[in-house]
Amino acid sequence: MCGIVGVLGNHEAAPLLVEALKRLEYRGYDSAGIATVHKGRLDRRRAVGKLVNLSDLLVHDPLAGKSGIGHTRWATHGAATVTNAHPHRAGKVAVVHNGIIENFRDLRSELAADGYAQESDTDTETIALLARREIDRGATPVEAARATLKRLQGAFALCFLFDGEEDLMIAARQGSPLAIGHGSGEMFVGSDAIALAPMTDRITYLEEGDWAVITRAGAQIFDGHDRLANRAETRVRLDSARIEKAGYKHFMAKEIAEQPVVIADALKHYTSSKGTLELPEALDFTTIDRVTLVACGTASYACHVAKYWFEQIAGLPADIDIASEFRYRDPVLSPASMAIFVSQSGETADTLAALRHVKDNVAKVVAVINVPTSSIARESDLALPIMAGVEVGVASTKAFTCQLTLLALMALKAAQDRGRIDAATLRDRLETLRALPGLMNAALALSDPIARIAEDLARAQDILFLGRGAMFPLALEGALKLKEISYIHAEGYASGELKHGPIALIDDAVPVIVLAPKDALFDKTVSNMQEVLARNGKVLLLSDAAGVETAGHGTWKTLTLPTVDPLWAPILYAVPAQLLAYHTASPRAPTWTSPETWQNRSRWNSQ
Ligand code: M6R
Repeated sequence: MCGIVGVLGNHEAAPLLVEALKRLEYRGYDSAGIATVHKGRLDRRRAVGKLVNLSDLLVHDPLAGKSGIGHTRWATHGAATVTNAHPHRAGKVAVVHNGIIENFRDLRSELAADGYAQESDTDTETIALLARREIDRGATPVEAARATLKRLQGAFALCFLFDGEEDLMIAARQGSPLAIGHGSGEMFVGSDAIALAPMTDRITYLEEGDWAVITRAGAQIFDGHDRLANRAETRVRLDSARIEKAGYKHFMAKEIAEQPVVIADALKHYTSSKGTLELPEALDFTTIDRVTLVACGTASYACHVAKYWFEQIAGLPADIDIASEFRYRDPVLSPASMAIFVSQSGETADTLAALRHVKDNVAKVVAVINVPTSSIARESDLALPIMAGVEVGVASTKAFTCQLTLLALMALKAAQDRGRIDAATLRDRLETLRALPGLMNAALALSDPIARIAEDLARAQDILFLGRGAMFPLALEGALKLKEISYIHAEGYASGELKHGPIALIDDAVPVIVLAPKDALFDKTVSNMQEVLARNGKVLLLSDAAGVETAGHGTWKTLTLPTVDPLWAPILYAVPAQLLAYHTASPRAPTWTSPETWQNRSRWNSQ
């Protein structure tokens, strides 16, 4: 997940660029670089590893100039080396790029045949070379950029800077977000508004296919057909408290701890104190015959939990799909169905592509997003914000529980619209949802015992998570979270599937984490747990007091959670699953890194 910044300013650009890149560190990266134009001369500095390496380089070898572009790179095409780091330069052109150019091999061969050889392994250098060839053929920088963009296939966000041009940047967006920031006599570019927050809150988001010619006087934006486009300027309120660590060691810890507050905010926003739903009227399930829920990663596990809710609470058939698979399997869609796209960022390319795939084939497209200005929000018929606040950590935590909370309310609305729930039952369900923030606080209080258990988990090679019913997707999410930040292999299984293969893995070296509130499925899950214990398995049981009392003996460890309405247990049990991942990762992490940047695996592995 790379980051882009650009500045046409009235002050030295290098410190501003590095500062802005720091704000994008949470996205993960393994090299960084900046380029500036000073007295007409384009120059650049690049370094592998943390931004501090780039800062050190700039102390010894400074870059002057008030115009510049910067980038944090997460290696995809080619290793994390200085040569592969952005900005890429070819002749008078420098470019930074997020995304993937799918036809870069063909373009590279074509350019090589024309005498334009590539130094790096990246798809990005191909862009710089294409623009250079245009300039060599007599094009102006703007003409060169426009011609280059026409040749690119794939998903990208780009920003060009040119030798000899101190008042020009060209930005483009196709499939990867890009924002333009407006200052007074200054202009900025950022792959998200967070990067630009200290410089401006006046933001214009580029739309798909847009490209922009930016000078200090403003931005001229063109659409994919090169027609002048009018894109609104909005004020983006970035609550700085929500993007500071506020005394926590890592953003992930802070965001886990914030969950009671943000869930309470979401419930307050979408329900009334009288025990009724306050969802927009446009969210109407009266004539809807099924819902299709589509997302990636953690958001897709939220959809998976919601499938149980829509079917159990509202009797409404629900399909779930991973966005990256959805459009390739020719889904059969009912014209009376509602498609729900769930995404924290609202910019995930596969989710957006899936949305575009269904748009004209369903009754309504609804977005469940955290960023109301995002592409997925803008392209839906109805966008419902999850109210989680900025989520900086790469590991999605509070966004997951806020997604679940909103999806639970949507399932209740579906039940209400379909006459499947009476007012008193709805009030009771909302009451038990409203109890969640308090219960989550009690779950957060388990952080220390979880940290002690995690010291053992950190030594394991493989860890299994088991759950039944709506706790099955939570087992998948627990495993994803753990492997994502601790790099320990983890898998989630439906408990009933254990005997159909995975049981072969069980021995005393493979911890098995069983997520089992004492609900209607508890006894069945416990009998699967017994299969593990019978093979000398090391079971960590997460349950409530009644569950631990009934089935805790013989297990390796237990964690006692508060008793919760079984329907909403996945929301509560997400907290210990997240804490297990966080604390298991901590002892394995080298001191220079943090959960926000633990994606920088290549560096860690080379230590
Ligand atoms: O922004 P999105 O919710 O669309 O992102 C989807 C996934 O990439 C995301 O949930 C990912 O799985 C998380 N980083 C996992 O913690």
